[in-house]
Amino acid sequence: MSAKKINQLIENYTQEDVTISCPIHGQRKVKANLWKGKHISKPKCEKCEKEKMIKENQLKTFKENHLKNQGLLESINKFPLLRKFNFESYNEDMYPEAKHTYDQMKNYANNFEKMIENAVNVIMYGGVGTGKTFFGISLIKEAVVQGYSAKYQTTYDLFNEIKKSFSDSSFCYERVKKDLIDCDILCLDEIGVTYGTEFEINVLFEIINQRYMLCKPTIIITNLDIQNLTKAIGIRSLDRLMETCLNIKFDYPSLRRKPKKLK
Ligand SMILES: Nc1ncnc2c1ncn2[C@@H]1O[C@H](COP(=O)(O)OP(=O)(O)O)[C@@H](O)[C@H]1O
Ligand SMILES: [Mg+2]
Ligand SMILES: [Zn+2]
Repeated sequence: MSAKKINQLIENYTQEDVTISCPIHGQRKVKANLWKGKHISKPKCEKCEKEKMIKENQLKTFKENHLKNQGLLESINKFPLLRKFNFESYNEDMYPEAKHTYDQMKNYANNFEKMIENAVNVIMYGGVGTGKTFFGISLIKEAVVQGYSAKYQTTYDLFNEIKKSFSDSSFCYERVKKDLIDCDILCLDEIGVTYGTEFEINVLFEIINQRYMLCKPTIIITNLDIQNLTKAIGIRSLDRLMETCLNIKFDYPSLRRKPKKLK
């Protein structure tokens, strides 16, 4: 198109201030678009337009996260035990010891937006069979329901997969790591059951530090006490996690030993 033609087009296109009445935001002054002095589109309330755009973006993110979470849900549902873990299946009469933790975790889940915005980490530590994985999985499932992208990963699976990637070129460790860093909320379970080598500490640091810099919360689950957790993940990782952190100690005997009603 020639410069002359473009100039003609620009000259024909004008704007003027008009007052519209929005059913939601009331009387508003907005810009109307004119072509050769005639209105070419109905003037719109810009507040409504902005809200519409925010909703559209939220819906887009929700759909994208839904796709991202498919793999997570498949890996959880593979295990009948993990499939059963959710806040609704908590039975206060059967597990009164876990009530305080239930309240803390439920509060976290009810305020996900705030918790994610403030990158509030969670460290759950204590003896075996005390419900740590139960609450980790319950939180992750709730995050998925609320439209966030989430990941649950045991450290032994993570390190096994990394080992696999050394011999199997179809397996991309960088991809796995990227997913763990990028998700809105990550739960790393069974910390301390692997060897705690320098290599493992460095992998965990990379994930925890990247998430720290991106202001994304991480949930850590371990059977270790804080002193031994420091050895397992390194002080650099623990220090970053602790900056904004909910520490939950599971200091009661294993719930697995409780007699269960047979179905
Ligand atoms: N709050 C809870 N509500 C219902 N069942 C629970 C709860 N906490 C633990 N359990 C039961 O106790 C067992 C141990 O919980 P789990 O989360 O695997 O422990 P941990 O990860 O601390 O070793 C599970 O098999 C589950 O059936
Ligand atoms: Mg566990
Ligand atoms: Zn409006």
